[in-house]
Amino acid sequence: MKFYIATDHAGFALKSFVIDHLVNKGHDVVDLGPDSDARVDYPDFAKKCANSVISDNGSFGILICGTGIGISVSANKIKGIRAALCHDAYTASMSRAHNDANILCFGERVVGKGVIESMLDAFCTTSFEGGRHEDRVNKIEGSCSFGRVE
Ligand code: RB5
Repeated sequence: MKFYIATDHAGFALKSFVIDHLVNKGHDVVDLGPDSDARVDYPDFAKKCANSVISDNGSFGILICGTGIGISVSANKIKGIRAALCHDAYTASMSRAHNDANILCFGERVVGKGVIESMLDAFCTTSFEGGRHEDRVNKIEGSCSFGRVE
């Protein structure tokens, strides 16, 4: 799989750990920054990653901030992005199976390295189930184009 990864300063310390894990499993990873733990704004890096995923058909993203909340909320503003804030292997797996998530998000201040490895593996090995879930995912896009969820 091809991944784009970005963080803010509060997710920076985990970035190389995540890249190493994915590369060791045979995935391609593009590092979109930042290059240090100097303070940055998570919406800027969420947008970089989300736009890269949208422009590169079939690719995925990883976004990390302190809680995972700000960076996932920001990424979901980009049409076509389904950024899932996950906390364990179960939520990471379900984000693919039911939501066809294209970006995995988590918080550096929330989950430890063992949980992160299990989330990455679950995300990479689970496929979208389609069927009734596809209808629902299509409704998300429909809601987006009207600007509100009914
Ligand atoms: C940065 O201090 C922190 O607010 C940010 O990383 C994130 O947790 C926001 O949702």
